[in-house]
Amino acid sequence: MQYAHITGWGKCVPPATLTNHDLATFIETSDEWIKPRTGISQRHISHVNTSGLAVVAAKRALAAAGLEGSDIDMIILATASPDTLIPNIASTVQAEIGAKCAAFDVNAACSGFLYGLGLASSLIKSGQNQKVLVIGAERLSFYLDWSRRETAVLFGDGAGAVVLEASEIEGGVLGYELNNDPAGRDILSAGFGTAMDRFAAESLDFFIQFDGQEIFKRAINGMGKLSKKVLEKCNIDKDEVDWVIPHQANERIIDTLISRMKIPKEKAVVNIANYGNTSAATIPIAICDALEKGMIKPNQTILSCAFGAGLTSAALALKW
Ligand code: ACO
Repeated sequence: MQYAHITGWGKCVPPATLTNHDLATFIETSDEWIKPRTGISQRHISHVNTSGLAVVAAKRALAAAGLEGSDIDMIILATASPDTLIPNIASTVQAEIGAKCAAFDVNAACSGFLYGLGLASSLIKSGQNQKVLVIGAERLSFYLDWSRRETAVLFGDGAGAVVLEASEIEGGVLGYELNNDPAGRDILSAGFGTAMDRFAAESLDFFIQFDGQEIFKRAINGMGKLSKKVLEKCNIDKDEVDWVIPHQANERIIDTLISRMKIPKEKAVVNIANYGNTSAATIPIAICDALEKGMIKPNQTILSCAFGAGLTSAALALKW
């Protein structure tokens, strides 16, 4: 029996920031509106495409694991904003790191990283793979209509990556649960039409659009349900959870989720203030931030959960 442990991690956040005050200079909004409703103070905006962010995060994760690209035997890249539909952008990362292996993209929107991490753990536990690179990367700023305040204020760009390695040491990814509710497909969408629509004022379907209040409710329910399920499946009592690393869509969603689960708020890793919602990248970036701050210690139990377009949901438990 082999276990799947995270042995390396890295993030890439573009240096350019756009604060709430910056936004208020060109759309009718304010820090007073955005901050209390979402928890967001600023977001990072990328001048390079999604794969560019992913490559940097991947190289940092490899360096942290002490590995070369050629050691990796599978690459899974979660994104809803790939530079190209084909070829997949996992192949761009593969070329840049010099890996000789299979590589594919996952589109499960904001749940994509946990979909990828769960699949990677199964590949390792089954003995199919030994060292898997899992990346969450997004450049959602490209999919925003910057004149629509309802959506423009919420998102940001960034990438995070982890290396998942086979080990005989017990622990690592303990279990995961994935779900999709197609009845909610229409309440959160982007990207209809061709890329040319990006520049056609009448083609608003190209841009991210959603029913915020509906997503708000469903995200809390969806993440709560799967979190409970994965804890039960892994025989973990909620009091044994040391850290919850939730998808960062709205701080109020996280607060409500945590309080309904009766887990103390201090156990939630929350970094949305700095990045906004980076979709598939929120969780790996939060993992990196928590580690950089020395929050996560060996043997601690972590619960991670996400919710996104699809409507996808995911929860994963791991022993660090
Ligand atoms: N600045 C100022 N005013 C605004 C802004 C803004 N950026 N956006 C909306 N408003 C106005 C609206 O026009 C509305 O005005 P009105 O009452 O005069 O009509 C008013 O503020 C209230 O708007 P609501 O939509 O009711 O605001 P709400 O409290 O629901 O908050 C929000 C909106 C923040 C989007 C919230 O619904 C939310 O966080 N939803 C979930 C997150 C989400 O949808 N994320 C998308 C990705 S999904 C995911 O990652 C899981």
